[in-house]
Amino acid sequence: MQIQSDILVIGSGAAGLSLALRLADTNSISLISKESLQEGSTLYAQGGIAAVLASDDSIESHIADTINAGAGLCDPEIVRLTVEHGAENIHWLLAQGVNFTTEKKQGKLHLTREGGHSHRRVIHATDATGQAIELNLSQRVREHPHIAIYENHIAVDLVTSRKLGLTPNHCVGAYVLDRDTNEVQVFRARHVVLATGGASKVYLYTSNPDTSTGDGIAMAWRAGCRVANLEFNQFHPTCLYHPKAKSFLITEAVRGEGGRLLLPDGSSFMARFDPRAELAPRDIVARAIDHEMKRLGAECVYLDISHKSAKFITRHFPNVYRRCLEFGFDMTKEPIPVVPAAHYTCGGIITDQRGHTDIPGLYAIGETAFTGLHGANRMASNSLLECLVFAQSASQAILEGADVGSAADIAIPEWDASKVTDSDEEVVVSHNWDELRRFMWDYVGIVRTNKRLQRATHRAQLLMDEIEQYYGDFTINSDLLELRNLALVADLIVRSAMARKESRGLHYTLDYPQPDTRHAPVNTILTPVNYRDEDQWVASGRP
Ligand code: FAD
Ligand code: SIN
Repeated sequence: MQIQSDILVIGSGAAGLSLALRLADTNSISLISKESLQEGSTLYAQGGIAAVLASDDSIESHIADTINAGAGLCDPEIVRLTVEHGAENIHWLLAQGVNFTTEKKQGKLHLTREGGHSHRRVIHATDATGQAIELNLSQRVREHPHIAIYENHIAVDLVTSRKLGLTPNHCVGAYVLDRDTNEVQVFRARHVVLATGGASKVYLYTSNPDTSTGDGIAMAWRAGCRVANLEFNQFHPTCLYHPKAKSFLITEAVRGEGGRLLLPDGSSFMARFDPRAELAPRDIVARAIDHEMKRLGAECVYLDISHKSAKFITRHFPNVYRRCLEFGFDMTKEPIPVVPAAHYTCGGIITDQRGHTDIPGLYAIGETAFTGLHGANRMASNSLLECLVFAQSASQAILEGADVGSAADIAIPEWDASKVTDSDEEVVVSHNWDELRRFMWDYVGIVRTNKRLQRATHRAQLLMDEIEQYYGDFTINSDLLELRNLALVADLIVRSAMARKESRGLHYTLDYPQPDTRHAPVNTILTPVNYRDEDQWVASGRP
């Protein structure tokens, strides 16, 4: 079966939904999502979206804070572009009908504070900002007559004219597995947009939902796109520590509103690590917690906001309060146990200011992309902002761009499943999922060493080889596709980490504990040509 539209959007989080809505009045759109339309990181975002709205705040201040958090690697032009488009994107969301929390008296938007921000500038919908955005935008998308929605459809791989032996190269569509029928369909489009989110599922403990398996990064890489800065994996400092909580996030806004981090003996410790204490950028807080847990042999540290009134806590953090209570912790009365967990993928598919990747006709936006905004460490609440701003700029590029025209004429062969059989060893997939995520946590986590990275490289290569063989022999399913993507992304992360012989931002290694100030900071760019040969894939400077 072949499905044709002007634009194929893969992914339905803040990035994919907002891009689809911006383009749908003048284009036909196929929007595919591997689970339900709403599922993805956006739905779980808590703290909010950073934008300059307060009269005592300024664009320059938001730029300076972002660059400071990014530890010398942010692209200043991209930071400016993003920050300057913040307020208009908040107004765009308000126009779509998203309800943000307002001040009780004046009716103005309430602004909260998070790590790294020198001002109150985080717009939010209590502590469930992502849900407010995702539910609203997905409803709008469902109502739009030009958007055809394909839920439970997982993209397998991109189709490019080069893969079909044709020139010039252009992305012409994707192979997509319908998870309900197990059939692979061909989606054809003049423009293909990857909005597939991050890859934090590569780690055993993560705040992310199951969708964050780096599919976009892996598909783009296999199609020939460069990727950058994948060594910068952000660990959120405060996820609830409870065997059944699945790393439930405790929003940074709790610290923004006065929450303190405590050791098991009740003493505070953050001031020993940074003068900004609890409101230092995330890399510093997560590393400090990791350090203290290892030093004391503690299973967790504690987050305490019980000095605030119960009314204040339940008004600002109704969802966090409810969830903690379900697990037996009353945050109005006692400190709650917390640990860090993998949260955000700062690197990704290299794009320019308008979402273009290395392949004409292929765009990447949101967490899957590397724009240069976050540098070596993303500042809190800058991610949803990036999703919206780059959905806006990519949609403008698509609207203004020449009609490529060629896609409609290229014949895309149907998916060939004639040489594979059903697997009789599903255990290989589940075993490798566990192994991969555990060695990434143990060897490529908050604190790294050369030896741990070498161990991880060997394991990643073994797994990749085994999975590729399995992929070639057996009928595909979504678990196998996600594992194949995660293994590739794990390998790219480890190689990027090995290439960075310094500690900077989120990449901390005991073998090079300081930033290397002798050389100007550079991005770690990997190019998909013989990338196992070091000379081919470590480059310097901006793309
Ligand atoms: P997502 O929202 O993750 O959506 C990805 C979409 O792609 C999903 O629909 C998924 O099903 C689909 N998909 C993936 N692969 C495929 C495939 N192969 N085929 C088809 N579909 C596919 N950021 C902030 O700025 N502020 C916050 O307060 C904040 N809080 C957070 C709290 C939590 C718990 C988490 C996990 C993240 C938080 N973040 C926050 C980060 C932010 O939510 C994400 O970076 C952002 O939502 C990513 O949006 P996205 O559209 O790029 O991807
Ligand atoms: C949070 O609410 O702490 C998450 C904010 C973010 O990831 O930007």
